[in-house]
Amino acid sequence: MLAQIDISKIPRHVAVIMDGNGRWARRRHLPRIAGHRAGAQAVHNTVEICSQLGMRVLTLYAFSAENWKRPQREINLLMDLLREYLRRELGEIHKNNIRLQILGRYEQLPQKVRQDLEDGLRLTAKNTGMVLNVALNYGARAELVDAFNAILKGMLDGGVREPEVTEEIIAEHLSTRGLPDPDLLIRTSGEMRVSNFLLWQIAYAEIWVTETCWPDFTRRHLLQAVIDFQKRERRYGGLGRNGS
Ligand code: IPE
Ligand code: IPE
Ligand code: MG
Repeated sequence: MLAQIDISKIPRHVAVIMDGNGRWARRRHLPRIAGHRAGAQAVHNTVEICSQLGMRVLTLYAFSAENWKRPQREINLLMDLLREYLRRELGEIHKNNIRLQILGRYEQLPQKVRQDLEDGLRLTAKNTGMVLNVALNYGARAELVDAFNAILKGMLDGGVREPEVTEEIIAEHLSTRGLPDPDLLIRTSGEMRVSNFLLWQIAYAEIWVTETCWPDFTRRHLLQAVIDFQKRERRYGGLGRNGS
């Protein structure tokens, strides 16, 4: 499968909506958390293969700003799993020169989670390989609201006389500042929606949806998504290669 990939055309940024953990568990008559736990292995495999492919950025949607609506017990277990993941995987992430970044209103996460995340951010801050964005308490609308407020404040504080925003100014105030926009957006478990993920940044992303639930997502699926992406014709509103 690797042989089918054009290594000169690896998507620079892949974003993944890791969905279907609950359904995976239900089908096996297991509690939902068993699905989340099994999903951690899929995260491990995905990070590894993306970094091996030489991808610049991988963004994983791990917990949305709307996921607080879930039962407190599931939220607590998800937070515990996240800490477990960090403790288990950070060494290897660092060894592979990967730089961890967090997207989302991270200050609202439980303090222990924040501490572990900060350790990870510090440890990997100087790494020059793939950027691994983990979206936690992330909502794209909240991100845009935060960006607009920061822009307004900057303009008011700076006494700007004729305030004007541009696409560049907005992009610079998002949590993805400095990074290329996603070329490829993957969603597992067959759901055809974006669920408030990276609304600004995915303007021209190619979308790839699989029926496979996240815990069953393997390196093979990731490679298939990249192969399919490489066959797509990205037109950006213009005309295709053959002028039609
Ligand atoms: C994705 O799986 C993980 C999170 C949103 C945290 P779900 O928990 O949404 O699984 P389904 O959609 O209920 O199957
Ligand atoms: C999106 O999945 C969020 C994450 C994968 C973290 P959800 O399961 O929360 O999305 P909806 O509710 O089906 O839109
Ligand atoms: Mg879901």
